[in-house]
Amino acid sequence: MKPYYVTTPIYYVTDAPHIGHLYTTLAADILARYHRMIGDEVWFLTGTDEHGQKIEKKARETNETPQALVDRVVQRYQAAWTKYGITNDDFIRTTEARHKEVVQQYIATLMKKGDVYLNEYEGWYCVPDETYLTETQLVDGKCPECGRPVEKLKEESYFFKMSAYAAKLREHIEKNPDFIFPESRKNEVLGFLRQDIHDISISRTTITWGIPMPTDGKAKKDHKVYVWFDALTNYISALGHDTPAFKKFWASAVHIVGKDIIKFHAVYWPTFLMALGLPLPKQIVAHGWLTDSNRKISKSLGNAIDPIALADEVGVDGMRYFLFREFSFGQDGEYTKEVMYRRINADLANDYGNSLSRTASMILKYLGTEEISVEKLEEPAVIAQATEEYAKQIGHYHFEKALEAVSSIIAHVSLEIEKSQPWAIAKSTEAADQAKLRTLLLSWRECMRVVSLLLYPFIPTSANKGLANIGEAVISDEKNAWPLVKWQSGNKKFKFAKPAPLFPRMEYKAPEPA
Ligand code: ME8
Ligand code: MG
Repeated sequence: MKPYYVTTPIYYVTDAPHIGHLYTTLAADILARYHRMIGDEVWFLTGTDEHGQKIEKKARETNETPQALVDRVVQRYQAAWTKYGITNDDFIRTTEARHKEVVQQYIATLMKKGDVYLNEYEGWYCVPDETYLTETQLVDGKCPECGRPVEKLKEESYFFKMSAYAAKLREHIEKNPDFIFPESRKNEVLGFLRQDIHDISISRTTITWGIPMPTDGKAKKDHKVYVWFDALTNYISALGHDTPAFKKFWASAVHIVGKDIIKFHAVYWPTFLMALGLPLPKQIVAHGWLTDSNRKISKSLGNAIDPIALADEVGVDGMRYFLFREFSFGQDGEYTKEVMYRRINADLANDYGNSLSRTASMILKYLGTEEISVEKLEEPAVIAQATEEYAKQIGHYHFEKALEAVSSIIAHVSLEIEKSQPWAIAKSTEAADQAKLRTLLLSWRECMRVVSLLLYPFIPTSANKGLANIGEAVISDEKNAWPLVKWQSGNKKFKFAKPAPLFPRMEYKAPEPA
């Protein structure tokens, strides 16, 4: 079995998750489910980033200890992932001992090697982004990334010799064209690497909420590890340094992140790993932002949208489908409720739900409720085309195109229903007509079985309901479900009762103008 290690960013637990965090976590879940289906050995990691100035500051605001804050907010993430059926194998919190040990071990190694050394940092810092900035990077005196105010820092600090690894990283990126995905992000990173790469500060003396730096006897002050060095290490600390899990999974790692943190993942992290003499992850995939009136949706901008409320409103699978059918993964996407309702109604209630239930009810009506043995059916060309396209597009993170391919099978069924007018054929008493009707119905059912399997990684609960509705076994073990996608590899005999409704049509009500 091929190992496949997929990760999400570990999110800051300053506040409850919003639709942006959901988006990344769902993408990883869809990939994890799909890779299990095709027979890979999957390890899926998510978690939370619990140290640093941002958390420390928030805890002051909420009048809690940082530990109480992170213990409280982490539950909001865990609850959201449970609600959305996220199939992560592990959940790492950076306040766990297993994580802290690896961070300290790695820094001690780099200190011994001379790649981490004491100096003084003087410059600017953006707390919401936990980023060091130089004077020239500021835009109107503010953070160039998020536009928020920055603070001046002057403190004793340990530095990581990033400059020593920039050329080697550039070479790696050029030799491995898929290392950074998509192309536009790769070019952004290469552009960054063409500039003068400075060593970066990796410790803070003016915060208390962080992992203590290992000591080399040189520092005058008490240092905490810079939160990004701490955070990035989670991808290995969760597997354990040099453990069997690390040996099995590490080289297959695919980090799914938002474009806001591409530099940390595609420059900082690989150079840390190079300095440590560790292999690099296989791929870093950066998606675009969900926006609201063209502004990034974020906690601090006050336009956060609660995923739990949305699931209650339009359903978990409605959300899982909408986010990956409506938007193109690499690009920004403008979120509106109206579009969400339209998409879910059109594709799930109408196309998928209707085609499946029409097929099922016609089978009950015209072929009866007794068990049916299925004979060999001719495979329409669309099945192989769509399946191939689907796999190819998922491989390129074009989820929307993969789903479009699935729609082409549904469109084929709807068109055939319209063209062949089964209700008219049913009126004929000729044996040939009855045989033709049976073949058509069974073939449409088979198409909808394949559709349900292909939809499974995106809308697992509903796809299983769909399968049950047409008398097929549900997917209970994702491993090796992929061979079932092949034409007529499901049940040879079936029987089902009245199908349960899949997606009720929802009515969108525009908010009253204020
Ligand atoms: O950056 N659209 O955590 P964070 C799409 N702790 N995705 C969005 C989004 C939006 N509007 N807003 C957030 C951190 N995201 C660090 C990560 S990893 C070692 C440490 C998603 O809570 C997206 O994946 O700010 C983005 O990269 C991530 O949440 C940032 O989450
Ligand atoms: Mg952020």
